[in-house]
This record gives sequence, structure tokens and C-alpha cells, in this order.
Amino acid sequence: MITQVIDAADKNAVILAADLIKRGELVAFPTETVYGLGGNGLDADAVTKIYEAKGRPADNPLILHISAIDELYPLVREVPEKALVLADKFWPGPLTMIFKKADIVPNAVTCGLDTVAIRMPSHPFANAFIRTAGLPIAAPSANRSGSPSPTEAKFVFDDLSGRIPLIVDGGRCTVGLESTVISMSGCIPTILRPGGVTKEVIEAEIGRVDIHPGALRPVAVDKAASPGMKYRHYAPKAKLVLVDSGAAREKYDEAVCNGLNAAILASEETAAFYGGCRVKIYGSIARPESIAANLFRCLRELDAEGTDIIVCESTDTNGIGLAIMNRLYRAEGKPPEGDGK
Ligand code: TXA
Ligand code: MG
Repeated sequence: MITQVIDAADKNAVILAADLIKRGELVAFPTETVYGLGGNGLDADAVTKIYEAKGRPADNPLILHISAIDELYPLVREVPEKALVLADKFWPGPLTMIFKKADIVPNAVTCGLDTVAIRMPSHPFANAFIRTAGLPIAAPSANRSGSPSPTEAKFVFDDLSGRIPLIVDGGRCTVGLESTVISMSGCIPTILRPGGVTKEVIEAEIGRVDIHPGALRPVAVDKAASPGMKYRHYAPKAKLVLVDSGAAREKYDEAVCNGLNAAILASEETAAFYGGCRVKIYGSIARPESIAANLFRCLRELDAEGTDIIVCESTDTNGIGLAIMNRLYRAEGKPPEGDGK
């Protein structure tokens, strides 16, 4: 299959993308978080194609993307009051909410779960594309399963060229990490995956919010509330080692001494400590959103540069720092906490 790339600003892009969706085909498209790999979310065959193109485990459910609030009601059995408050405040935007699913949502989307994840992206192309298709769009991140989510069209092309008919190029994604996933289907809203909308701002709207223990570090399989928690995700090909900034140089020197192609992933503020080392800057500690926006691109660039080992500075876990550290712990791929292995 030949993969066509079209600019999101091209006046034909929305129609071309929406037509492919209506015909049961797949389209990679930009959102404000990361690129998505979209298919008709009401068509089990289209959804199966998504799993095949990504090489995604068949037990990891997908998010349905909508363009307006009325599109939510047919997909779910109930909409809790707190979910409406969050929708009003954060939709469109990088927040995914989990509801009890309606029968029209195919099991292929939810992997047999009784719940469904819904998000309304704010990216103008994504919004116009979903509205024009007139269907909920099932879309995971548009990477091959396990590798870092793509934040630019060229990274989608690297992973999925030849596997899908169309990539819509909308430039760099502004948030750079996937949406916050919050379950609204139990008594207390619970964050399953931290993302662009932080616990702090959600709590300011609806009061108590819990964070699932697996939302920071990987958990043992039987404790995973969200199937996505089980998998080594976001991983570069290089080995990634997380350190406090004080320990980075020693790790780097050790790796170089062992003949490895090493790099330090550091902040603007700390890069100057590492004179003579190969350093990539992932953003500014003073503006953690910049680290979120650049992180996945940096991991992919370091891979393209043939890096064997990435010595990466940890950040704190306040605000969006929780989402950044969640992705870094998974990229590091250490065994689950308390697993004893
Ligand atoms: O920002 C995003 O969310 C991007 C863009 C494309 O919208 N999408 C994305 O999708 O990151 P994906 O498939 O890579 O991640 C979806 C996450 C997975 O961790 C999955 O396990 C979880 O949402 N999820 C989906 N449905 C769920 C459900 N019913 N219950 C629990 N977790 C669910
Ligand atoms: Mg993903």
C-alpha cells in the first residue's frame, strides 16, 4: 500500500480523510496531544485494521474521538454530573473520560470491557475531520505498538508507511504527551493515565480525584485498571536510564568507558554541567510543558542518531511532571514495583 501524505492546510484534506473513514479505511491525523491512527469507531472491521497496522495487543482498548458534546450520549449509558462539569471545562482538549458503554460501541473498541473511553480533541483539523466523517473516530496513538507516540507526521511515516493509505500532516503537536485518562464510571473519579490536564486542575473543578497506583509506575498485570498500564510503552530502541541530575555524568562516563554511544537528556538549566558530553536538551525545568512537548521527539531523534544508552534526568511529579515521569518510567521499562523481580 502506498501511503499518501497531505498537508492539514490543504483544502482537500478534510474531505479526503473523512471519505476514507466512511469507506472503512484508516487515516493518521494530528491532534493537540499526539498523532492518532483513526478508523470508524462503529465498524469492528475498521477497528481490527487499526490493531493490525499498529501491531497492538488485542486486549488494549481504544479511545473514541468526538467533535461535539451531543455525540457523547449515543455512545454511553450514563453521563455522571461530574463528567459534564469536566466536559464543560476541558473539552475540547487533552482529557479522555471513561463511561459505561452503550451497545452500539463494538467490542473490538473496548476489548470486551463494559466501559468506553471518549475524548474531544481541540486540534482544528481533528475537530473538522471528525465532524465531516459524521462518526466517532477510534484512534490510538499513530505509532507501532511500544515505540514513542508520534508528535510529528514524519514519525508516523517512519512507523506506518506502507501500512495505511493517508497521513495528514499538521506539524508538531503542541502538548506532546497523550491525553489524561480518567475513569468516571466508579464512585470516585480516578486518573488511570496522567496527561495534559493535571490532577490539580481537575480537583479544582470536581473535588476529590484519586490516582491509580499504576498511573505513575508500571504495576503487576493483575493490578492494571487500564490495560495500557501493563505494557512497556513509549520506549526508544536505546536503553534509557533515569537519574537525578547529580548522577548523570557518572553514568554517562561509565557507558562511554564501556564503548557505548551515550547521551544525556537534560534540561536547559542543567545542560551546562555536562561539558564534553553528548547532551540533548528536552526543555526547561521552569516550563515543564516544554519538556512534555519535546520528550517523544528527543527519544526518537536519539534513536535515529544511533544512541545505545540515554541517561535521562528525572523531573519532579507536580502538575504535568506526573505525566512526564509516567512516560519516562515506562520508557525505562523496569519491572513492576513490588514484583520482586
Ligand atoms: O492523546 C491521546 O489520548 C491519543 C490521541 C490520538 O487522542 N490517543 C491515545 O490512545 O493515546 P492510546 O490507544 O495510545 O491510549 C489509550 C489508553 C490506553 O492506555 C488504554 O488502555 C486506555 O486508554 N483505555 C481505553 N479504553 C479504556 C477503558 N475502557 N478502560 C480503561 N482504560 C482504557
Ligand atoms: Mg499509545
